[in-house]
Amino acid sequence: MKILGVLAAHQEAGINAQLLAEVMKNVDDSCEQETIYLEDYHITPRKRGEDNPVLDELSEKLMEADVWVFAAPTYWRELSGVLKNFFDCMRPKFVYFKENGDTIPGQFKNKHYLSLTSCYVSTFENFVTGVTDNSLKTIDRVMSAAGVIKTGEIVLPGTFGMKELPGSKKKLCAKYGKKISTKKRKDDSTVKRYIQLFFMIAVMALLTMGIQQLLGNLITINSFWLNYASFTIIFFVLLSMILHFFTFVKHRRR
Ligand SMILES: Cc1cc2nc3c(=O)[nH]c(=O)nc-3n(C[C@H](O)[C@H](O)[C@H](O)COP(=O)(O)O)c2cc1C
Repeated sequence: MKILGVLAAHQEAGINAQLLAEVMKNVDDSCEQETIYLEDYHITPRKRGEDNPVLDELSEKLMEADVWVFAAPTYWRELSGVLKNFFDCMRPKFVYFKENGDTIPGQFKNKHYLSLTSCYVSTFENFVTGVTDNSLKTIDRVMSAAGVIKTGEIVLPGTFGMKELPGSKKKLCAKYGKKISTKKRKDDSTVKRYIQLFFMIAVMALLTMGIQQLLGNLITINSFWLNYASFTIIFFVLLSMILHFFTFVKHRRR
């Protein structure tokens, strides 16, 4: 089992470096580990007919590891260009193209990743406006195309003037350091997803029946088919809203 830490910040000893170091410090001794700083590499896209030893070296490091930990600050409410450039240049390794132009996961399929990011704005502002969301979304989008499985995310807002990590974040980093040290199955969230689905359906059904009851006070719906149709429509609208939230919106903000 090997863990690879990837620091993608402008500052080599900044807050993201500290977050990453804190996670790596808590990785189990039985695991091999390595941390790389992307700014040490001159990362350029592969050109047709030309060798690109830097990309080959980085690709080998990714292949050797079972879990990748990306530490990238939020710049301009987006993922740091350092990591984005790395992802862009790695695209031919992350995904393969089918004849019709669709992509399928490449050679790193079923590896795991953890995302770390930070921003200047306060915890409250980030909670309300989601400044760090796009950084996490971009990582998720790329990893999902590459078939790499998410382990979690850590966000640290309010970093203006911060010199040292708050105790609560150190604890969270320790928790994730231990979590990523265990041998991973191909997709370890299947049971969790079924449980989430069960509760989603239970809540949606309750809300739907509640709305139907309210509507029943305004208009009389006695027919079985009208009841069935209104249940299906209300349930569909609520379920699509909640699925959208869980799929695209929900990211850690604190
Ligand atoms: C180019 C640049 C753009 C930034 N944009 C934002 C931003 O849009 N919102 C924000 O809250 N912080 C922003 N920041 C602040 C960084 O997210 C913050 O400094 C981060 O915690 C730095 O991490 P580091 O110490 O690892 O470099 C920006 C910083 C830089 C250098």
